[in-house]
Amino acid sequence: MTKLYPEFERILVTEEQIQAKVSEMAAQISQDFKGKGSIVLVSILKGAFMFTADLSRQLTIPHYIDFMALSSYGSKAVSGAVRILLDLRADVYNKHVLIVEDIVDTGNTINYLYTVLQTKKPASLKTCALTRKEGKRLDIQVDYLGFTIPDVWVVGYGLDFAERHRTWPFIAELKKEVYQG
Ligand code: PRP
Repeated sequence: MTKLYPEFERILVTEEQIQAKVSEMAAQISQDFKGKGSIVLVSILKGAFMFTADLSRQLTIPHYIDFMALSSYGSKAVSGAVRILLDLRADVYNKHVLIVEDIVDTGNTINYLYTVLQTKKPASLKTCALTRKEGKRLDIQVDYLGFTIPDVWVVGYGLDFAERHRTWPFIAELKKEVYQG
């Protein structure tokens, strides 16, 4: 394992834990949105691509997927400013929309997105995140949350360090010497 993945410090969420949680979340979402027609999963690139793929395959309700890509100006922790790099293809007016995120850290991205999508007058707007960092105060509620994880640099299952390690099937803490140089 360490030979295959030499840059992680420790696994925080195993592949098995992720898959079990995704099934649980998909079952809850399927139950909550049953009978509401086709819902829209708004997946936030790049990080949420893997979670979205696994979650969507387990949903038992009609749905389609749209993507957005967002980027922060400068340091997220300081500026809080977000800009849209890739916008939705389809209008979400009067649709039931579920934002799908891999991680909520400072909350800036999801807050911004929530505000932007609300202006498009969806029938409902909910949020879903596989992970959030512990100890961070959030302005909006995450309606469907997988795991609360320590406030360390995490990689895997969509999460990257300089575009590396996104495709690991688990979530791990990155070794400090990797990002501290
Ligand atoms: C990550 C992650 C979330 C956001 C969360 O994306 O995928 O979208 O940060 O952080 P926040 O709560 O502090 O806003 P990132 O900007 O790293 O882009 P990427 O998904 O393309 O790697």
